[in-house]
Amino acid sequence: MISKGIILAGGVGTRMSPLTKAVNKQLLPIYDKPLIFYPLSILMLSKIRDILIIVNKGQVNQYKKLFQDGTNLGIKISYQEQNKPRGLPEAFILGEKFIGKKSVAMILGDNFFYGQGLSKNLKKCTNLISGAKVLLHKVPNPELFGVAKVNKNNKILKIIEKPKKFVSNLAVTGLYFFDNKVVKYSKKLKPSKRGEIEITDLLNIYKKKGKLSADYIGRGGAWLDTGSIEDYFKTLLFVHAVENRQGVKIACLEEIALYNKWIKKSHVQKQIKFYGNCSYSKYLKKLLV
Ligand code: TTP
Repeated sequence: MISKGIILAGGVGTRMSPLTKAVNKQLLPIYDKPLIFYPLSILMLSKIRDILIIVNKGQVNQYKKLFQDGTNLGIKISYQEQNKPRGLPEAFILGEKFIGKKSVAMILGDNFFYGQGLSKNLKKCTNLISGAKVLLHKVPNPELFGVAKVNKNNKILKIIEKPKKFVSNLAVTGLYFFDNKVVKYSKKLKPSKRGEIEITDLLNIYKKKGKLSADYIGRGGAWLDTGSIEDYFKTLLFVHAVENRQGVKIACLEEIALYNKWIKKSHVQKQIKFYGNCSYSKYLKKLLV
């Protein structure tokens, strides 16, 4: 069982500028909560309680203001700075001490997942014993993503970054599960032309050894990468529509923690006090009756 998870929440957010000039992307609102609530909820739904948040230099305190050490959410949160965005696999180099001898999940701070059956699927992924696993999702525009060609046994045969010719419409999402070798392999990676170490290169190391498998977010599921203004706005509208039509909140961290039996109602009371008089608190109050 994978018990540790990393959220990569640094980055420059160039595509979202000027929104991201003074505020980190993951702290921007997706309707009624900061973006980072959504990837954190995904780790919590995967029953992962030991979490490292990697942030840009000088930004630890902003994230600490939101979550402190995670106690009131029934989890343990540590923080680590990344001096410069050197690429996604740097998460495993910076996180070496945190990972120790364990396997680890990693989610990009700007990725949004939602849908029926997702929790069940996530639990399947955390059963990983060796190798690596990625979550795939069908997209209409594969030329904009890293895509995977998969065989009948869900083994990945090929991963291609932004293919010019059609190979597959299965995009590799920003949620990954790795065994402990990920630290060693990440250290071996050389920067690409754009000066970053690349997740595709890391996944290809596993693929070459026949150790890379796939799982899927089914038809009923949504995956949105909130990296561009358009996608960011679409995600915001999606959350607004679901929350207002169904009266449930997406990524209510306290609700998940209660459901997992990680916290008591007294913790929720503390969180209500912390957030103050707002619609999120009103929702939390409803959980207490
Ligand atoms: P990207 O979308 O590749 O980068 P970005 O967020 O800086 O945006 P842009 O391309 O518009 O400049 O990153 C995906 C996620 O990973 C995002 O949440 C930021 C995070 N990230 C890091 O924390 N460190 C890194 O070294 C990189 C490359 C990304």
